[in-house]
Amino acid sequence: MDIRDFNKATVHIGKDKQEMADGAARHFVKVAVDAVEKRGFFSVALSGGSSPPLVYARLLEEDLRKQVPWDKIHYFIGDERCVPDDSPENNFNVARQQLLTKINARPENLHPIVGQDKDPAEAARRYEEEIKKFFASHGPMADDTIPQFDLIWLGMGPDGHCASLFPGTKALTEVSRLVVENFVEKMDAFRITFTFPFINHARSIMFVSNGEDKAAVLSEAITSNVVKYPVQHVVPEHGKVIWYVDAAAAKDLYAVAKK
Ligand code: 6PG
Repeated sequence: MDIRDFNKATVHIGKDKQEMADGAARHFVKVAVDAVEKRGFFSVALSGGSSPPLVYARLLEEDLRKQVPWDKIHYFIGDERCVPDDSPENNFNVARQQLLTKINARPENLHPIVGQDKDPAEAARRYEEEIKKFFASHGPMADDTIPQFDLIWLGMGPDGHCASLFPGTKALTEVSRLVVENFVEKMDAFRITFTFPFINHARSIMFVSNGEDKAAVLSEAITSNVVKYPVQHVVPEHGKVIWYVDAAAAKDLYAVAKK
């Protein structure tokens, strides 16, 4: 694993998707163990997309599986498609199939978005309420308005979106709500998504991203001061963003870093 430090991010570059997933899984274990030691539980907002299942599979391998305090983890989702709960497109459903059922996660530790396929606005409102209630009952809130996840796990699309914060959409400029419904023109569909203020308030933020189709945006997002992509609005209040990528996604980043 090659590690490159930039002023806003630390990028771990695996030779392939497997090494990327290994690094991300090890980081997940480290943050989870640390959170449980310090606060008795680990709160994580999982991500959608094709990368998370690679990391889930690595977490389920015995050497890491036995280190994870599974019963002390509370699972949320950072964004959701407005499809039925049992749809293969549903991000939390993917997490259930690929991880949560395999580790027999306790039902009370699962916090999916509800009603997203019926009323996106109401689903977003209710999710924000549920998150606030959860954190208020699990120790002091970091401050009186914004709950603080131990880890928010994100992916990045080839257009530089993260969560469901797509270029040119209304949610990009939301500054007071934590969770919003967001109409995505190019999909002609609503999504539910965490907002940037909420994401940036997390104790730690991890991106997992692979594939050559991400290379150009990744390099610009990490090295350029010109803000062109939604992902560049992820600027944590605490520490740096941590990326786990494969060499294909880092192709252009290497070219820039060599200059
Ligand atoms: C979604 C995701 C989305 C995803 C990116 C990257 O609902 O689709 O949350 O933001 O993380 O599109 O996806 P990959 O993991 O496939 O690169």
